[in-house]
Amino acid sequence: ASPARAAGGGVSPLVIAHRGASAYAPENTLAAVDKAAELGIRWVENDVQRTRDGELVVLHDDNLRRTTDVEEVFPDRAPWKVRDFTAAEIARLDAGSWFGPAYAGARVPTLEQFVHRVEHHHQKLLLEIKNPELYPGIERQTLKVLSNEGWLDRRHLAGRLIVQSFSADSVRTVHELKPGVKTGFLGTPPVSDLLDYADFADQINPSHGSLSPAYVASVQAFDGPHGRPMEVFTWTVDDAATAQRVAGYGVDGIITNKPDVVRKAVRG
Ligand code: G3P
Ligand code: CA
Repeated sequence: ASPARAAGGGVSPLVIAHRGASAYAPENTLAAVDKAAELGIRWVENDVQRTRDGELVVLHDDNLRRTTDVEEVFPDRAPWKVRDFTAAEIARLDAGSWFGPAYAGARVPTLEQFVHRVEHHHQKLLLEIKNPELYPGIERQTLKVLSNEGWLDRRHLAGRLIVQSFSADSVRTVHELKPGVKTGFLGTPPVSDLLDYADFADQINPSHGSLSPAYVASVQAFDGPHGRPMEVFTWTVDDAATAQRVAGYGVDGIITNKPDVVRKAVRG
């Protein structure tokens, strides 16, 4: 399919479902992936962390309290950090009831399960390595899981996978371990530093509040490690007015909890 055209004549930004379509289903669950698919959204973002026994799981916070019933199931295990629980323990938790009764029984997926579901829907994955300082070696391990699932073959590397992080070290490590993988740095580095980032990051992905048209143009003026202009995906935009504003800046992607709202705003 050819890229959609925005109202002003430019190519409209990609729309990425943040933690899945997380305004409509519990974040980072398989239900949130399904919801994005149901809305016809091709790109899904997620957050990856590691359990005590070394399994990669998909969860945003570094503790389990906000999005699961961990305090009820394991009342004496404060402060309920992800890294203090085994995968089997986490698999017992309800990660859906906090969002609504319709999602009771939803689980915290493993990275493997999450990737399977994305693959099932023929979607694309923007994978965030979350808190890498807590999980030494998580970059290599993430790439291993992706490789086992076939996500490091040419078909995916040609446009279905991006790995991003707030940690520049982590992004650089991913690039060095597997140079073919497209990478993104989460943040807004000064323009004077962009040349350094261009060595290992294909994208610079800032919060929408820190964006300006000049900044977007500055990023896109650099070529990334694959010899193509660096891109800008911005987050987390949930209203039409902001989506239209950042689309007008020329961003390449908009990460949103409400992908239907953003798609309508930028594509009409
Ligand atoms: O993908 C961008 C966004 O997810 C970064 O912030 O805190 O939602 O992981 P956060
Ligand atoms: Ca994230």
